[in-house]
Amino acid sequence: MMDRGLYALASAVTLGMVAAAVRLVVRKTPRICRQRRPPTPLPKDYGVSAMKVANAAQRIAPFVHRTPIHTCRALDEMCGRHAFFKCEVLQRTGSFKIRGATNAALVAGAETLVTHSSGNHAQALALAARSVGAKAHIVMPRTAPAVKKAAVAGYGGLIELCEPTNEARAAAAAALCERVGGHFVHPSNDLDVIAGQGTVACELLADLPDLDALVVPVGGGGLVSGMAVYAKSFNPRIAVVGAEPKRVDDAARSKAAGRLIDCHDDPAPSTIADGLKTLLDSNTWPVVRDLVDEIITVDEADIAQATHLVWTRMKLCIEPSAGVGVAVLLSDAFKRHFPPDKYPRVGVILCGGNTDLEKAAKTFLAPTPPPAG
Ligand SMILES: Cc1ncc(COP(=O)(O)O)c(C=O)c1O
Repeated sequence: MMDRGLYALASAVTLGMVAAAVRLVVRKTPRICRQRRPPTPLPKDYGVSAMKVANAAQRIAPFVHRTPIHTCRALDEMCGRHAFFKCEVLQRTGSFKIRGATNAALVAGAETLVTHSSGNHAQALALAARSVGAKAHIVMPRTAPAVKKAAVAGYGGLIELCEPTNEARAAAAAALCERVGGHFVHPSNDLDVIAGQGTVACELLADLPDLDALVVPVGGGGLVSGMAVYAKSFNPRIAVVGAEPKRVDDAARSKAAGRLIDCHDDPAPSTIADGLKTLLDSNTWPVVRDLVDEIITVDEADIAQATHLVWTRMKLCIEPSAGVGVAVLLSDAFKRHFPPDKYPRVGVILCGGNTDLEKAAKTFLAPTPPPAG
């Protein structure tokens, strides 16, 4: 009798402990990973899945900000729908790039990381390495602005300068990897980077599950690929729209041709959206081909005007690469392909804010912002 009572007591205690543990796990699971619907399998294995993105979200959560979502009535009136701006401009290092870099650094677990970048990925990898107690060697073109070199050095990145060509960068990074025995983290084509960038969609759709479309700036396609894989898994009907400057429209031309076009028309393209000069590659192109509904391009004057609008109306100092998404939101092409009555709620990624403020203020705060040459 006594034994049975003790057994019942022990069972109750065990069950209570299990229930408490489950409650703890649920509470500890970041809200970023919870969706109302179960994921639907994608047509193919892209090397990145919604599960990998959700795991990345959990992994990087202690190291990155959950960025706010802003709205702006003036911009809503201009585009004739509700726009929700995911403010990666307020992210650590000033862009979403810290997400992918941190995920890659944590997954690699290497003591030494290597990359080539003149822009936001350079700063991101330097900080990511510092966060995980690794060293970061960054190959930068010798022509990179002093402020960018200083930012990388400020995060503890070890800079190696090279000639300002894609070939020189890749060769210098390969030689550096060999020399220091480092793990190479490509700025946009690395699968762990893509999964990390997808966490922007994870957060956005956890907060706003019924968005009808996403507008995402495209350079090498890491951001749009990670976001498309995640978004289409949870809502196959959501439209994913890539935003590209006309002057570096390799993604739009690849989509039109149905094959990867891995060069620009102009071998030395100039656009004020300098974060978007990079090209799609082997891991990002299949996702863009299959899961991105449309790539819409905008010209330099549209980018400058959209950037100016966000500075003045939303009081957010975005860089022109982020202005590209806003320019697409306001474009006739977007209205035509994705009419406001069918796509009334749109998420737009304000992907970064790293810009030379003095120089940018002259451009974007002039009465009529001039198109950049
Ligand atoms: C601010 C900003 N936005 C967008 C992009 C494009 O990202 P991805 O190369 O993943 O397409 C970059 C790339 O450097 C960037 O720095």
